[in-house]
Amino acid sequence: MRTYDLIQKKRDGNALTQEEIDWLIRGYVAGNIPDYQMAAFCMAVYFQGMTLEETTALTFAIRDSGDKLDLSEIKGLRVDKHSTGGVGDKTSLVVTPIVASLGVKVAKMSGRGLGHTGGTIDKLEAIPGFKTDLPVSEFKKIVNEVGLSIVGQSAELAPADKLLYALRDVTATVDSLPLIVSSIMGKKLAADDDCIVLDVKTGSGSFMKTLEKSRELAEWMVEIGKRAGKRMMALITDMGIPLGYAIGNSLEVVEAIETLKGNGPKDLTELCVALSAHILELAEKGSYAECELKVREAIDNGSALKTFAKAVAAQGGNAEWILTPESFPKAKYSYLVTAPESGYITSVNTEGYGVASLLLGAGRNTKDDEIDFSAGIYLHAKTGDYVEKGAPIATMYASKQELFASAEEKLLDSTAIGKTAPIAQPLILDVVE
Ligand code: URA
Repeated sequence: MRTYDLIQKKRDGNALTQEEIDWLIRGYVAGNIPDYQMAAFCMAVYFQGMTLEETTALTFAIRDSGDKLDLSEIKGLRVDKHSTGGVGDKTSLVVTPIVASLGVKVAKMSGRGLGHTGGTIDKLEAIPGFKTDLPVSEFKKIVNEVGLSIVGQSAELAPADKLLYALRDVTATVDSLPLIVSSIMGKKLAADDDCIVLDVKTGSGSFMKTLEKSRELAEWMVEIGKRAGKRMMALITDMGIPLGYAIGNSLEVVEAIETLKGNGPKDLTELCVALSAHILELAEKGSYAECELKVREAIDNGSALKTFAKAVAAQGGNAEWILTPESFPKAKYSYLVTAPESGYITSVNTEGYGVASLLLGAGRNTKDDEIDFSAGIYLHAKTGDYVEKGAPIATMYASKQELFASAEEKLLDSTAIGKTAPIAQPLILDVVE
């Protein structure tokens, strides 16, 4: 086989066989296929797409490209929850302790920020001392004892995805349906969970901008997970508006803690309750209505927050800060962005909000950039709100004052203000089972 021929075959719109896909992935991980050929292949997939069969083969090839976790020592059903990526999406920090406090084991591998989207591992590292690179034996021990552990993806697990993810990030090939499906499901299937609940984002802040594409993404991931013997379900949720009010690592951790205490923003709370109830239902803890009641109780009686604090302590983090979130340091500088005219916020380009936060230092421009955990944006008004000219829209936080100008420009360019109130969209748009 020749890489050239496989690139050409895909470029011309033909389907590759499972043997061809296996050969390509094995060769890339072994270092026999250079990045420039793999980048050309990704671009061919971007334009030509892949069939469900090809995408399944690519997913399984990524899953099989390295070690696989054996979590059989963990007692009880193991659950993972994964979001396809958004802005202000701190749901994992809320949902995982809720379900762990209700007896479901959460053994979760998470990622860092990608493009304009944030990542759970970056957020957790905003908690001082929190270690995200635990040995597998410790990871399993914490899941058994506390019910929850979240770590970064180990280098040995699905190494093909690590390589492809970094390559796609710099070659404008992230937002391709088969590449997203195989990236997410390849690494999820290499971890040994029984149930996987997906939060598939749709709209301006997600990688898939239309509901139709997001539904296809959800259906393919659910189907491929089932083919691998997993219990699967997906929610399709709106990312046309940032989730909650906080964007940026420390700010998001604090908002997640407030949500665990029952004081969170309405949209974030609604989504976290729904995701948690679906996870519990999938793990056979009762009907959806019963599970929803249990979730609300776990928030009201403080057991979800306690579980989060315990999990943080078990991973070396300062659990005191979880109980007193005002301890998280504020950025050196803050800057108020105000409305340039009076009217309703009719829509926002959520990706633009993610980029504005990145410009303030909350994300990376190159893969070696250091994150400023205290940087980010706190929104005072969101889509549907009426603002008077000069009223605050957002407070920006950064460690250097000179970062505010371009971030403000990006945020205002991404905010449409008009005379008519927009029609409110539901947050949860569909459920795929
Ligand atoms: N998250 C992933 O893990 N991979 C993608 O390709 C996109 C989002």
